[in-house]
Amino acid sequence: MMNEEKHLLSLKSFSKEDIYYLISTGIKEKKEYKPGKVGESLKGKLVALLFEKQSTRTRVSFEAAIFQLGGSSTFLSSDTMQLKRGETVEDTAQVLSRYIDAVVIRTFSQEILENYAKYSKIPVINGLTDKFHPCQILADLMTVYEKKGKLSGLKLTYLGDGNNIANSLLIGCSKVGIDISVATPKGHKPDSDVIELAKEIANDNSKVITTENPREAIENSDVVYSDVWSSMGQKTIKNDNRKLFLKYQVNVKLLTFAKKDAIFMHCLPAHRGEEVTRDVFEGKKSIVFDQAENRLHLQKAVLKSFMG
Ligand code: CP
Ligand code: NVA
Repeated sequence: MMNEEKHLLSLKSFSKEDIYYLISTGIKEKKEYKPGKVGESLKGKLVALLFEKQSTRTRVSFEAAIFQLGGSSTFLSSDTMQLKRGETVEDTAQVLSRYIDAVVIRTFSQEILENYAKYSKIPVINGLTDKFHPCQILADLMTVYEKKGKLSGLKLTYLGDGNNIANSLLIGCSKVGIDISVATPKGHKPDSDVIELAKEIANDNSKVITTENPREAIENSDVVYSDVWSSMGQKTIKNDNRKLFLKYQVNVKLLTFAKKDAIFMHCLPAHRGEEVTRDVFEGKKSIVFDQAENRLHLQKAVLKSFMG
């Protein structure tokens, strides 16, 4: 890895080569995976998972990855921490740095995470913020690579809310040369600084398009991606907004405008009947559970690289 950053806060500091390195390590981990096999890479190391939001996949895949690499993990729900009673992020970061070897954090603003990292002497890994979800997108790129045999030259379309997944896909895809098209309702675009950055990264090598037109966006896509309309920590969308979002629902009809062999992806958890219909979610094009599985393997690559 060329990335010399101590922390994994977003995909901004990664080069194309770094991403390919993590993908190939993830694929190797997957090949070598055997139930009951425990490695030694994290032997004697303790990783904390400090979570301020719910999680199924990120929590359990990290816990399993750490265990299978020979390390231990401790789950710290922010509700049970002194953070909840007003102890500062700065003090928490300094204290944990003296006990353990790395921390995976799921929190609200990216600023909270960055502030934590500023005071942390041990690696901090982003397990999702309102702005980014880098470990998810690394596993997604590994999955696309497995299914399509390449990354550069493909087209991925994201439909729905311009959230943390959309932001991270913009950066991840433009780094590896995937054309990305993001279709969102008016007022729900991804963050403008992220769109600008993605365009800069893509330069003349790939395309970055944002639009309000789902039909135009999905045309000729190799990969179609959706996520919930209301993310954790956001207000649940009201009924009139539902109508606005329904145009972006991934259904059989909309999918006919993508390539014939297009695949459907979703970071999960999903709401059938909202951002995706049941027939698409459970249909032949859907690879959502392979995608979820790869979180385990790709995160082993991340843990090895950042805790090496
Ligand atoms: N995709 C994902 O991060 O799932 P969890 O919220 O269950 O961790
Ligand atoms: N955008 C979703 C992703 C969940 C993994 C959220 O932040 O809730």
